[in-house]
Amino acid sequence: MMSINQPNILVIDDEASICKGCSLILGEHNYSVSSRTKGKDGLREALAGQYDIVLLDIRLPDIDGMKILASLREKKPQTQVIVMTGYSTVQNAVEAMKGGAFDYLAKPFTEDEIVLAVTKAIEDKRLRDENILLRKQLFERFDFNNIVGEDPAILEIFERIKRVAATDSTVLITGESGTGKELFAGAIHVQSSRAANRYVTLDCSTLSSSLLESELFGHVKGAFTDATHDKKGIFNVANHGTLFLDELSNLNLEIQSKLLRVMESGEYKPVGDSHTVKTDVRIIAATNRDLAKLVAEGSFREDLYYRLNVFPIRIPPLRERKEDIPRLAYHFLRLFCKETGKRIEGFSDDALVLLMNHSWPGNVRQLRNTVERLVIMTDHGFLNRDILTPHIQIDGRSDPSAPNKVPETWEELKSVKKHLLENIFGQMEEKFLVKALTECQGNITHAAQKVGMQRSNFSALLKRHGLSADNL
Ligand SMILES: Nc1ncnc2c1ncn2[C@@H]1O[C@H](COP(=O)(O)OP(=O)(O)OP(=O)(O)O)[C@@H](O)[C@H]1O
Ligand SMILES: [Mg+2]
Repeated sequence: MMSINQPNILVIDDEASICKGCSLILGEHNYSVSSRTKGKDGLREALAGQYDIVLLDIRLPDIDGMKILASLREKKPQTQVIVMTGYSTVQNAVEAMKGGAFDYLAKPFTEDEIVLAVTKAIEDKRLRDENILLRKQLFERFDFNNIVGEDPAILEIFERIKRVAATDSTVLITGESGTGKELFAGAIHVQSSRAANRYVTLDCSTLSSSLLESELFGHVKGAFTDATHDKKGIFNVANHGTLFLDELSNLNLEIQSKLLRVMESGEYKPVGDSHTVKTDVRIIAATNRDLAKLVAEGSFREDLYYRLNVFPIRIPPLRERKEDIPRLAYHFLRLFCKETGKRIEGFSDDALVLLMNHSWPGNVRQLRNTVERLVIMTDHGFLNRDILTPHIQIDGRSDPSAPNKVPETWEELKSVKKHLLENIFGQMEEKFLVKALTECQGNITHAAQKVGMQRSNFSALLKRHGLSADNL
């Protein structure tokens, strides 16, 4: 029987007793097992069904097991094959491994051996499926179709990215916070010939210098007190791929010089190691600081600056590409409506004017956050100037209620969101109450009538905010 949640296993063996034994043992471990005693029949079933693992006897009377293996590798690459073989055919096992089998079991095998082999194969498959999914997500996120912009400056960046992606050149992306540096960095990777290899991001502003060094270059056991075993560094993990060094102005001079050495020689030494290791990693760096100024001040190495600045890309702040604001606003509106299932028609003209004239110190990220908030606070219709005004005035980096610390976990993020919403909405509610009451000279009945609320609800809200007609 096929099952969605339990891993599905197919046993192909001409000995019915093996089929039965495998079914019993694996069934007890919550796998869903089917079996076939004829090779051809087994192959047909393996190709037609959705099996995670095929346990395959390599010596079958009607068809060569190696042929089944080859056919599965070609047509069902996601299915893991574990080959079963008698003692006399260990040589076949070696061949089978070369032919792409995940593992082999020598008959007779014990219950533990088969369970272990299957568990390993399932785990390996899960990791591979996950990788495929992650790569797909990476491609979607950094696809040009998901990067909005028709301003000439942005179109030129697209053009430059297409050109540089094809090369191995180092790229330096500069721009204010929230302009899209990370997005464009990812776009370079997915358009490059390294796209099938790893894309690793290192945020240089979050780690201490000593951690950064071992993070980048790895360390050997005993390199320092906590180094209980060898650790691979990013230059190893990202080999043949791309390394995105975010906010690299935070690297200290010592690491800067080590970084320059890898970039020039393609070699580095793990911390505590006396041997050099070769690496081939393309570097994309980003910063919102003025590196030339840091060079002048002596906190950034001039030679590294020139090495990084081979191909600079400057992303203009949002206020320098106002024409893109409505496009971006609609892009985010569609995104959040899809996420929440809401049907908000769009922005009114005066709302768009307001958005375009705002200075957006937090750039595209701030616009995105603002639209997200608007979608939360609105259920349908058009977003007009009145709805927008409070959000635009309150928003911004100057907002004291906005925490500067970026949340570490989903839970934290949710709580920050809740906090922010309560805070911002709370401020607005208070202003709303004060305005209504002031305009009605402190008369609660009139104020409630004016704003279209029940008197009881209006006074309850006043109470919640610690307001009364007297203390205005
Ligand atoms: N042109 C664009 N089209 C669509 N989304 C964008 C665009 N530019 C930026 N964004 C979105 O805005 C947000 C901020 O972008 P990103 O993280 O790339 O900025 P950044 O320059 O790296 O900021 P920081 O300096 O703060 O790290 C992200 O959610 C990103 O997806
Ligand atoms: Mg960034």
